[in-house]
Amino acid sequence: MSQSALIPSLHGRRILLGVTGGIAAYKAADLTRRLIEAGAEVQVVMTDSALHFVGDPTFQALSGKPVRHSLWDEAAEAAMGHIELARWPDLILVAPATANFIAKLAHGAADDLLSTLCLATDKPIAVAPAMNRLMWANAATQSNVATLTARSIAVLGPGAGYQACGEIGEGRMREPLDLRANVAELLSSGPLKGVHAVVTAGPTREPLDPVRFLSNRSSGKQGYAVAAALRDQGASVTLISGPTNLSTPAGVTRIDIESAADMLKAALAASRDAQIFVAAAAVADYRAASIAGQKIKKNDAELTLPLARTDDVLATVRKAYPQLFVVGFAAETEKLEEHARGKLQRKNLDMIAANWVGAGRAFDQDDNSLQVFWPDGGEALAPATKAEVARGLVALIIRQRAAKK
Ligand SMILES: Cc1cc2nc3c(=O)[nH]c(=O)nc-3n(C[C@H](O)[C@H](O)[C@H](O)COP(=O)(O)O)c2cc1C
Repeated sequence: MSQSALIPSLHGRRILLGVTGGIAAYKAADLTRRLIEAGAEVQVVMTDSALHFVGDPTFQALSGKPVRHSLWDEAAEAAMGHIELARWPDLILVAPATANFIAKLAHGAADDLLSTLCLATDKPIAVAPAMNRLMWANAATQSNVATLTARSIAVLGPGAGYQACGEIGEGRMREPLDLRANVAELLSSGPLKGVHAVVTAGPTREPLDPVRFLSNRSSGKQGYAVAAALRDQGASVTLISGPTNLSTPAGVTRIDIESAADMLKAALAASRDAQIFVAAAAVADYRAASIAGQKIKKNDAELTLPLARTDDVLATVRKAYPQLFVVGFAAETEKLEEHARGKLQRKNLDMIAANWVGAGRAFDQDDNSLQVFWPDGGEALAPATKAEVARGLVALIIRQRAAKK
């Protein structure tokens, strides 16, 4: 099982990252990578002093965009003038922000590209101060910071601790992951802002011996689409996925699992601080009663494999976290409503999304349609792409969750 820290959603958000001349400029490279990992588009603008600390190829490679540093670069100005660049971002983040840059920002100086952009924008600005503790404590810096705060410029940090100059105190740049969380908070919007949603997707594999397993035809496409749709409404999403060929939606944290037992463990851990759980995975109902230590050899006799029940992921998560809004999926080949409503009631779910499967329907297709049921109602989502169906389902989740509260 692999896992990374929860990635907030910055999908499609544009961040202009200003890097100024402090020793913490090297950390801005990691910050760039972390912002990209969360789905953001990042344009790096460096001051001349920053270029003494880190070369621009590093930022160019990480952001996929040429770094801007001069007001007087004719080619760059022709491609996107500085006024256009000032309009481009959803947020300007200056990290690290030197004492000098903070002073310039407080006094409205515009003597290089980054300070000019900050003056020529109406987009939100955030700064992550990074400097020697005495520079930070200096009355001039403190007065400049107070000016920025009074103008609604977000001052993120600084932190305290060991400094590159060998001193201990306040002035360290906040760590990249913390800054990314701050950026997500500053930019987050949508009805699911601040909500953590866990989605399961894909098949499970139940081993029979070292080389064989029992599995099913689930492609994971519908679950991945639900994860992306929840993210688009502002949720932080953890996607617990069985083996699929799909790439992780940007800004979604993915945990890879194989068996139903792995899925249960991951789902219980991820749901601890979640508000929504959507179980779109096709979890095996049965596993081998015992897994052969060596490859099972063929012979002329018939082979019977004793199977045992797997643990029920959906029912176990429901019982463990009564406050969660829990959505199940039901794949049926007959009596769709009857079976889906039965499962809704039996497992005490908040909602169930049922689809017809078999004979070229649903599994591994790009289109789908769903019958969605909740205890006192239901709605059909007409045939459409799995992405559109996912958006429809998430709209119902938002509505029914609000109704439940
Ligand atoms: C080795 C070295 C490290 C520096 N580290 C910092 C720092 O961490 N924070 C800071 O505010 N200034 C630091 N400075 C001073 C700035 O680089 C200097 O004030 C510069 O004019 C800032 O330019 P800028 O704000 O345009 O990037 C450092 C200077 C040197 C030579």
